[in-house]
Amino acid sequence: MAKLFSPITFQDVELKNRIVMSPMCMYSVFKQDGIITPFHFTHLVSRAVGQVGLVITEATAVQPEGRISAEDLGIWGDEHVAGLTELNEHLHAYGAKTGIQLAHAGRKAELESDIFAPSAIKFNDAYKVPKEMSQEDIKQTIDAFKQAARRSKLAGFDIVEIHGAHGYLVNQFLSPLTNQRTDNYGGSRENRYRFLSEIIEAVKTEWNGPIFVRISTDEYNEAGNTMEDILYFSSEMKKQGIDLIDCSSGGVVPAKINSYPGYQVPRCEAIKKETAIATGAVGLITSGLQAEEIVQNDRADLVIIGRALLRNPYWAKAAADELGYALEAPTQYERGWQ
Ligand code: FNR
Repeated sequence: MAKLFSPITFQDVELKNRIVMSPMCMYSVFKQDGIITPFHFTHLVSRAVGQVGLVITEATAVQPEGRISAEDLGIWGDEHVAGLTELNEHLHAYGAKTGIQLAHAGRKAELESDIFAPSAIKFNDAYKVPKEMSQEDIKQTIDAFKQAARRSKLAGFDIVEIHGAHGYLVNQFLSPLTNQRTDNYGGSRENRYRFLSEIIEAVKTEWNGPIFVRISTDEYNEAGNTMEDILYFSSEMKKQGIDLIDCSSGGVVPAKINSYPGYQVPRCEAIKKETAIATGAVGLITSGLQAEEIVQNDRADLVIIGRALLRNPYWAKAAADELGYALEAPTQYERGWQ
């Protein structure tokens, strides 16, 4: 049997297979209120119909100033819960488990309002200079992640993923390239990890299910986090009870990235082997055979699919066909599936 289609359990959440829909911003909240729209339903629910095991929402902002764009989904207010609850009901109806990516863009927010970061350094000339966060700002932002976790539970999500990758706020604290603070949130890697560590503890006070964290395992810059730093962060996350590290890369500072099939898998595999934590592999994974190789060789526990699932909501079916596996159809499609 294809391991790609075997179930896996995180705490008491069983995913029916190892295929995850990667979080992807759709810039489709046209009223700029963070509230889910019919487009998001169609987009996410069709992948659940397509038998993806876990569907993760796009980066969903924990504070309005933490949006990448004014068209992003939000979970900064109680008004966001009703739509997300309905989304979960629909996704669950097709047997998918559901995750929400809790996010804050920090200095990469492209908004009219003030933007915030650990240090007042802009990403590049297309971005604003962020305000350096005070200790009070840090406290409020950690609390925003906690409130977002509370609302995620109310809305019925199965898994929370903290967005610590791609040069957004959490990553800005982790990286020496963007964090030049001289207080207890900057300097040593222990200090740079403190913000994420406190977010995890705050989330755990409201959320008792599985927590994933997405990180950038490579910053493509010699002065950035080293693999040693990344392994340190990973082992700290394991100690804090994080269930899986979603291993992405880049986005911290402008860089040229040589991407090729599975380019992020080696670091994902190293984290899994050296830290003994579950991992998710992402990045140019496009075929069933490639995905099966990754999970069979224990290079990752999950494969997280982005653009291939944009191109084909039935990517899981195509992967099953490639592997000669008879994937169960959603009831509605039984007569035309095999
Ligand atoms: C992304 N990506 C992304 N990542 C993330 O952590 N949160 C997000 O909201 C988004 N948004 C987003 C939008 C779009 C349109 C794309 C194409 C990508 C990155 C994505 O989740 C994934 O990590 C990469 O696309 C690499 O995987 P694939 O596409 O090669 O399978």
